[in-house]
Amino acid sequence: MLFRSLSIAIASGALVHSAAAVKAKNFIYVVPDGYGVPSQVFARDFYSITNGQGTVARPDTAALGVDSIVIGTVKTQASDNLVTDSAASGTAFACGIPTYNGAIAVNDDGEPVASILEAAHLDGFKTGLVVTSRITHATPAVYAAHVLDRDSENEIAGHQVGYNHPWGSVVDILIGGGRQHYLPSSEGGSRTDSVNLVNWAIEKGFTYAADKPDFLDVQENGTLPLPFLGLFANSHMDYEIDRNIEEQPSLLETTKASIETLVKATSDSEKGYFIMIEASRIDHAGHSNDITSHLHETLMYNEVMLYLKEFVEAHPDTQLLSAADHECGGLTTPDGYDPTVLARGQHSGEYLAKVISSYEGDDLAGLLRDTILPAVGLQGYTESDIQNWASASVSDAGSSILAKFAAEAGVNWSTGGHTSADIMLYGYVHGQENLNYMRDNIGGFRDNSELPGYVAKVLGLSLEDATAKLRSNGTSFVQKRHLLREIKKRANSIARAHSHE
Ligand SMILES: *[C@@H]1O[C@H](CO)[C@@H](O)[C@H](O)[C@H]1NC(C)=O
Ligand SMILES: *[C@@H]1O[C@H](CO)[C@@H](O)[C@H](O)[C@H]1NC(C)=O
Ligand SMILES: *[C@@H]1O[C@H](CO)[C@@H](O)[C@H](O)[C@H]1NC(C)=O
Ligand SMILES: [Zn+2]
Repeated sequence: MLFRSLSIAIASGALVHSAAAVKAKNFIYVVPDGYGVPSQVFARDFYSITNGQGTVARPDTAALGVDSIVIGTVKTQASDNLVTDSAASGTAFACGIPTYNGAIAVNDDGEPVASILEAAHLDGFKTGLVVTSRITHATPAVYAAHVLDRDSENEIAGHQVGYNHPWGSVVDILIGGGRQHYLPSSEGGSRTDSVNLVNWAIEKGFTYAADKPDFLDVQENGTLPLPFLGLFANSHMDYEIDRNIEEQPSLLETTKASIETLVKATSDSEKGYFIMIEASRIDHAGHSNDITSHLHETLMYNEVMLYLKEFVEAHPDTQLLSAADHECGGLTTPDGYDPTVLARGQHSGEYLAKVISSYEGDDLAGLLRDTILPAVGLQGYTESDIQNWASASVSDAGSSILAKFAAEAGVNWSTGGHTSADIMLYGYVHGQENLNYMRDNIGGFRDNSELPGYVAKVLGLSLEDATAKLRSNGTSFVQKRHLLREIKKRANSIARAHSHE
């Protein structure tokens, strides 16, 4: 049923939930973390030209994925910095407030603020978080955890799965990496409280999958049993370009299974679902100035969005919005750049660094010459470059090789951190009238903290009510409040450093 009745809106106790405002049953929100306009331009040009549409000298580039659903632009500042991190921006996008860098769904005073996912759960919706980073990373964390510091990932895991969230479990589907934060140190994890959250979740009724065979095994007709916990790596999931497709599902696969599952679980219900899907590692490739990984993560994001656009086209009761949390890397594509050079890239810098680190032979120069440089796709180097790389640290050699490859493609990175560049807002819903409503109410130039208000409006939810409820039994579940000032200072110095992986 597309529109919920007025009687239900009144029964829920708040007249602000007027039936006229309820526009959709379901909401899909997608975050391409660290993705900027040049990320899209580069991916679009690469895809077009390598698929025979135009050439570098005679460009005739076709629209790619999200290009067809641009509805606005968004500014992304933290409350204490012109340049935001994923925690502050995620909190703005999830909870509707500006806050400090490092904050996970808490305000500037460290008070918890409810997310749109929590508001949806409270109102009887099904919910999901599907990412390719650790599930405890900042973007997925802000939807179901309330901690002062994004680095408290063990604590985030406990909130997210419901072990010490004041409402218990609020997420029906959790998919990503980050298994270490669910397991005690005695079992190879990083938890110091000796709690095994995977076992706890299984006891609470979650179905657990640790790899792709598990993930496929538990499915029936392409849907997952609920609640579902999929932790496919100890840390981040592999970059798309490195992924062993036998071991880890792609973001497209986890997205499809999650959407089908939520559709089935809510088909007989008036209440629908809210899901946040994150193409997490566009950002990581930006931090590493790794153009090959950045390209392939961006292509996967477009593939996922194309699938979702077609899904929404066939499901008029569902709305789709997507915006990055911030740009990362300051990528530019000056005159003379050539995306086709990237066709030579076979692996991420991260993967190749592991190959070098685990090499036990005595001919590192040979390994670089015969294995590493061909996998990077780098062609212009000298014998003396190889000797320098062989004697440098893996991380220095890696940065230097990736920088040389970026130069070969003619692109420039300006930082290993985030930038203040505005980001694109994409949105889609079936039907011209619905689309006009979306454009009128969230299109144009926006602040990142405006987005969840729109989601709440179309689903008939109240973020304010959810926040009041979240605080109603005290806020001591947000720990370390006396350290707030210190945490704020540290978060900004970390955000300014090269990377926060
Ligand atoms: C799976 O699909 C088949 C054929 O459409 C149907 O008969 C069966 O009931 C489905 N099973 C479940 C668990 O939905
Ligand atoms: C951009 O990259 C090119 C190719 O590596 C380099 O020559 C140029 O100096 C770079 N520009 C800036 C401003 O760093
Ligand atoms: C507050 O705590 C009491 C006692 O644990 C519980 O019964 C009640 O449901 C809680 N209320 C909220 C809003 O969490
Ligand atoms: Zn980042």
